[in-house]
Amino acid sequence: MMRAALVVENGRPVQVREIPSPEPSPGRTLVEVEAAAITPLDLLVASGTSYFGDPAKPYVPGVQGIGRVLASERFVEGSRVWFQTSAGITTEQGSMAAVAQPKDEFVVDVGEELDVVALAALGLSAVAAHRCLHEVAGIAHGESVLVLGASGVVGSSAVQFARLAGAGHVVAAGRRPGFARRALTLGANRAIDITPHESVEEYLDAYRDAAPDGFDVVIDPLCGNAATAALRHMRPGGRLVNLGSSQAPSATFDSAILRSKQLRILGYTNAELDGAAVSSTMEAVVALLREGKLSAESETHPLDQAGEAWQRAALGKCSGRAVLVLGETA
Ligand SMILES: NC(=O)c1ccc[n+]([C@@H]2O[C@H](COP(=O)([O-])OP(=O)(O)OC[C@H]3O[C@@H](n4cnc5c(N)ncnc54)[C@H](OP(=O)(O)O)[C@@H]3O)[C@@H](O)[C@H]2O)c1
Repeated sequence: MMRAALVVENGRPVQVREIPSPEPSPGRTLVEVEAAAITPLDLLVASGTSYFGDPAKPYVPGVQGIGRVLASERFVEGSRVWFQTSAGITTEQGSMAAVAQPKDEFVVDVGEELDVVALAALGLSAVAAHRCLHEVAGIAHGESVLVLGASGVVGSSAVQFARLAGAGHVVAAGRRPGFARRALTLGANRAIDITPHESVEEYLDAYRDAAPDGFDVVIDPLCGNAATAALRHMRPGGRLVNLGSSQAPSATFDSAILRSKQLRILGYTNAELDGAAVSSTMEAVVALLREGKLSAESETHPLDQAGEAWQRAALGKCSGRAVLVLGETA
């Protein structure tokens, strides 16, 4: 038997219980979990309202985690790995348990001498930010970048990746107190506090002030008026990559602007990545973390307090990503 957090009811905090430990099975790696983040995707799928459908309950949530290999056909016993699961999306069980059993394809050897909590916090949000900037937007040296939701893990990672990619001008937009100071420290040239902005015109004024020449690339986890205004302040050939709808489910575009500037509006989801793509991007993330070029804010909680941590994350009260820590990491 083992301790695990369980989603028992849609939209309610997880409950910690004893459940049977998983047994070794072909094509899967048994991992003794050290850290598991509570991400927006975990909360969304557990709400039962996402386009993934209403998951069968109870289930162990956690779409990603870090730990040490207990048994595997592919990985050395005792090595440290990051892994992804489809908990809540399929019947696969997740990372918020003493032992997880991800598919070998979605396990990445991350080596020793690593800030486990920071990597847990970065996880798939950093993977998404990296791929949106490089594979989807195809950022070029010297380009001007707007990052929306810059206080979040996607946004703060995107600010750091844009700077590392040699962006000419990086504007970070967010609303959490203290976010601007951190964004500027991470490499943004300007930080916009969007708290007072509601209308498209208000956003537009702020964007014009922060980047008079417009944006080549917009990383957009928000949608809504923040994105509508961004689409009106882009340079010819600009690319807006949307990967979330934290502000609103839709945004609008002006046909004349879209056509005359030959803009591109692009969608992104991690859900379409195969194991090789996840691994290669995660290896890039791990390398930058190890070199001290990448960071993420987080708060840690022991597994036994998973319910409280889940509630804090659901209410947006966390100082950075909530990360459950187990074993020696706790
Ligand atoms: N498509 C994909 O594959 C993929 C991958 C990863 C993430 N995502 C999505 O991207 C979004 C951000 O992910 P994350 O990991 O960065 O989450 P996060 O760390 O929880 O950050 C959420 C960000 O959104 C902001 N935000 C939330 N509601 C807002 C609102 N109504 N108006 C303005 N800003 C708002 C937050 O601002 P405060 O700090 O002020 O609350 C914060 O900056 C989520 O929707 C997530 O589901 C998508």
